Amino acid sequence: MSKRMALAAMFGAWTCSAQPFAQYTIQRAQSPIVIDAKLDEPAWAAAPAAGDFHFNWFQSGDKEQTIVKMVWDDDNLYVSYYVRDKHISAYEKQRHGPVSKDDCVEIFLSPNPAKIRNYYTFEINAIGTMLNRNKADWWTGPPTWEPDGVEYKTTYHGAAKKDESPDDDHWIVEMAIPFRNFSRDAAHTPPREGDEWRLNLNRIGGKTNRQLSSWSPIAPPSTGFHSPEAFGIVRFAGEAASAPQRGRGGFTRRQRFNQADAKDGREIYNRSCTQCHGLDGNPGDRAPALGAARRYLRSTTPELFDAIKNGIRGTLMPGSPLPAADVNKMIAYIHSLRATAADLDVPGDPVRGERIFSGKGACSNCHMVRGRGGLLGPDLSHIGGERSLAALKEALTVSKPVAPRGYQPVRIVTTKGETIEGVVKNDHNFSKQVLGKDGKLHLLTKEMIRDIRYDTKSLMPDDFNKKLSPTEFQDLLAYLSSLARSRRTQ
Ligand code: HEC
Ligand code: HEC
Repeated sequence: MSKRMALAAMFGAWTCSAQPFAQYTIQRAQSPIVIDAKLDEPAWAAAPAAGDFHFNWFQSGDKEQTIVKMVWDDDNLYVSYYVRDKHISAYEKQRHGPVSKDDCVEIFLSPNPAKIRNYYTFEINAIGTMLNRNKADWWTGPPTWEPDGVEYKTTYHGAAKKDESPDDDHWIVEMAIPFRNFSRDAAHTPPREGDEWRLNLNRIGGKTNRQLSSWSPIAPPSTGFHSPEAFGIVRFAGEAASAPQRGRGGFTRRQRFNQADAKDGREIYNRSCTQCHGLDGNPGDRAPALGAARRYLRSTTPELFDAIKNGIRGTLMPGSPLPAADVNKMIAYIHSLRATAADLDVPGDPVRGERIFSGKGACSNCHMVRGRGGLLGPDLSHIGGERSLAALKEALTVSKPVAPRGYQPVRIVTTKGETIEGVVKNDHNFSKQVLGKDGKLHLLTKEMIRDIRYDTKSLMPDDFNKKLSPTEFQDLLAYLSSLARSRRTQ
């Protein structure tokens, strides 16, 4: 039994590096949405992606991801699926037919978190055939159900059939589900700000690579999607997301850039733009940082080109008279400032780096990568896609003044005289959960604690530039940079 499973067995669904349920905040739609399977509205650009799907019953094959976003307004819940798929096939044309034999996506939704077994299903295949069921305890109708006013569209909507083709890359479903369908179970329709519903999003892979995956993980012994106890938690937020997000999970592909251009672009930028912006993309006296924050107003190449060439109306930002070639180099530079380590060609040998990770560096004593390793530190399975190269170097070489939340080292002596050393995972008034260096999770109430001492310094060592040779350090960086959800060729 793995450490994580041992912990889960001890404390029910609790695990330390993964949430038991997927969670998502549904923002209000920032702009009207046209149901056309294009997903080109600002509302979609601004909404964050729900997060990776889990392959609960994975045996072999290509784990193709599904990117889902949800937003809402007073009338509808809007759901979009961007389905990565190299083998798209769908044949079922009959309303309420067995669409899950095809490439198909689903949403199973419980509007009342206290009665999760009252749930409603929407299953849609790639050619736009839908199957609906109502699983509520009050439902006395047939096995299928006719939801009121649902609007939806798929990429291959209405096609007689869709056979696999070598050009296949992805397909899309966009839909609007009126809240009035759930008035019998939901506390409020439309929901009120802060209301929580439960739901899961599912994906089935058609003929070739027929993978099953779901947004909220489904743990054994459940063998199928009809497992409302595994549904994720969604919260309705009162505010619209205001700025398009770039990067992981977004619909826009990673912005590619040429590193030589980025180097030239840096010089042109430092020469031409720093009377307002700061040097090297830092914040300046009269203009914002171009690369430091994680959310950007303008993130795509066309948006940046427009801002730099034409200026931004109503602000100090002027149009630039520089030739387009120079503007493009500055854009490459801006992309490079915002890049995660996985976007870069990091020198070094990732295979040797992986050996250092589990060997000389002893990183795997404390960190998991793809399900293997220790629990005291964060899971690093996707760290290259989440952090810049500079942040990775910093994590390995610079000590943090205060250990981040969830990683505060602690030494506890219990009233029974037992000593527990580890990190504080959860801290409530009356109880603490401490993950011990022994790999066990200790649940301690106030009365069980005789002495408690916190250490401010994180358990994460900060001297790997000294412990490792320069080549080893570089190989380790190359390995960490390669840890990303989607490979760089994507
Ligand atoms: C006269 C001052 C000034 C100069 C010179 C200037 N900028 Fe700006 N820039 C601004 C201000 C102010 C903003 C913020 C505008 C806003 O509020 O949207 C801005 C915003 C931007 C943005 C948008 C940032 C984002 O994420 O939305 C980019 C990109 C940008 N500047 C690039 C450049 C480049 C490249 C140059 C040099 C060719 C340059 N700027 C020169 C003042 C300036
Ligand atoms: C004794 C346990 C321990 C060892 C050994 C250890 N780490 Fe860590 N690491 C942690 C903890 C705890 C954190 C979280 C707290 C912090 O950031 O200081 C962390 C944080 C990190 C982070 C930052 C993660 C983020 O989300 O930004 C990276 C990267 C990292 N470690 C990589 C490594 C690598 C690579 C090694 C081996 C060369 C290693 N760690 C060895 C415990 C450890």
